Amino acid sequence: MGAAGGGCGAEPPSGAHVFSSECTACHTLSGHESGHVLGGDLARRRMSVAEVESFVRVMPVRQRLSEDQIHAVSRYVAAAQARLAP
Ligand code: HEC
Repeated sequence: MGAAGGGCGAEPPSGAHVFSSECTACHTLSGHESGHVLGGDLARRRMSVAEVESFVRVMPVRQRLSEDQIHAVSRYVAAAQARLAP
């Protein structure tokens, strides 16, 4: 690692980081169904990056996401689904 620098400020947004800070109140991405979260486990679905992105744009996140954050978290979720979904 290291090429992107070590701090939290100037790096391009990490999809995993955006997901854990903005999405995990309502979603998991574990492959295990968890009925007690509002939005549910996204790993049960299999969506394209564009499909995920269309949802991300309407999700009630706490703060407006930047375009970079939207792209990063959409790629992150779609890649995780491709790994986890049947
Ligand atoms: C305040 C709660 C909340 C937050 C925060 C939230 N979501 Fe959601 N999300 C929902 C609900 C509720 C649904 C609708 C679930 C349904 O209809 O089955 C949903 C649906 C989705 C879907 C479609 C799932 C499906 O099965 O059709 C995706 C993808 C998604 N959210 C991704 C995200 C991502 C990525 C984030 C973070 C950027 C996020 N959500 C933040 C509540 C939330």
